[in-house]
Amino acid sequence: MSVVMLKDRAEAFESIDGLQEGGFRDAVLRGLALPQKMIPSRFFYDERGSELFEEITRLEVYYPTRSEMEIFDRHGADMGAYLPEARALVEFGSGSSLKIRAMLKAMPQLTHYAPIDISGEILTREAEALSADFRGLKVVPIHADFMSPVELPQELKDIGKLAFFPGSTIGNLEPYEALEFLTRVRETVGTGGHLLIGVDRKKDTETLVRAYDDPQGVTAAFNLNLLTRANRELDANFDLPSFIHEARYNADRGRIEMHLKSLKDQAVSIGDCHFEFTENETIHTENSYKYTPEEFRLLARAARFEPLATWTDTNERFGVYLLRSEG
Ligand code: AVJ
Repeated sequence: MSVVMLKDRAEAFESIDGLQEGGFRDAVLRGLALPQKMIPSRFFYDERGSELFEEITRLEVYYPTRSEMEIFDRHGADMGAYLPEARALVEFGSGSSLKIRAMLKAMPQLTHYAPIDISGEILTREAEALSADFRGLKVVPIHADFMSPVELPQELKDIGKLAFFPGSTIGNLEPYEALEFLTRVRETVGTGGHLLIGVDRKKDTETLVRAYDDPQGVTAAFNLNLLTRANRELDANFDLPSFIHEARYNADRGRIEMHLKSLKDQAVSIGDCHFEFTENETIHTENSYKYTPEEFRLLARAARFEPLATWTDTNERFGVYLLRSEG
């Protein structure tokens, strides 16, 4: 392992969104004990949080979902032409039904669809809907955490694999974690396999911040829902009106950060534990890294993926990258 990567590991306490395990209670109790209080973003997605995220993807100011969809709609056939040998579409984290449908329509060479998801419920729902609409497509649901190493079922071992990771979910990972994740995906698809991945691009700060601080307050509700969840599940007593949503672009790190800011000095208890907040102190709740095409292709190469093609939307806000595994 390189010196640079070891240094990044030493900074891993800063990683709030990463690959680490643990339930909500442990994460909150540990996260609030840090000098910069934090709660990892993967805890956003309880039932209400998932609904609010859906709502975010339909907001005028939240461009990533629409921009990526435009890319798949306009360039799907072009993507398919790079992949004559692809047979199995392996989706890391299912639930992006519209994007999957666009891919399946554009790539008739696909015979298998293998969604990997931690939620059995989402898997079953998706599998049924897609089997009904794409006759002749074999759906192979894989119930697993796609952030951990995934063992593929036997029937996928000897066919051409195209991993699919849309939505810029990779932006939630620290760059060193993104490198580990890409390396694992490369091992999963095997030599000559491919990855098609959607990644948000760097752009002007105003557009970025607006996408994470919408005027309707949906993103604020999404962020604050973490505290509602803690009150409900952890016997916490966060006073919701005394925390506000904040989105900032950290240009040095190339990431949007979301925080929950305390409007006053106050104490919060979680079960038997007590935490002090000073006025304006924040809980860091999410990082969303942005990559220029050059930066992302460099990261892909570091994971021994060869970039074959890059697509963007007409406003050049979002990137879709086709990568071939080099071993
Ligand atoms: C689902 C991680 C891609 O970073 O844009 C949207 C999550 N957070 N608005 C993103 C999110 C606030 C989203 N990802």
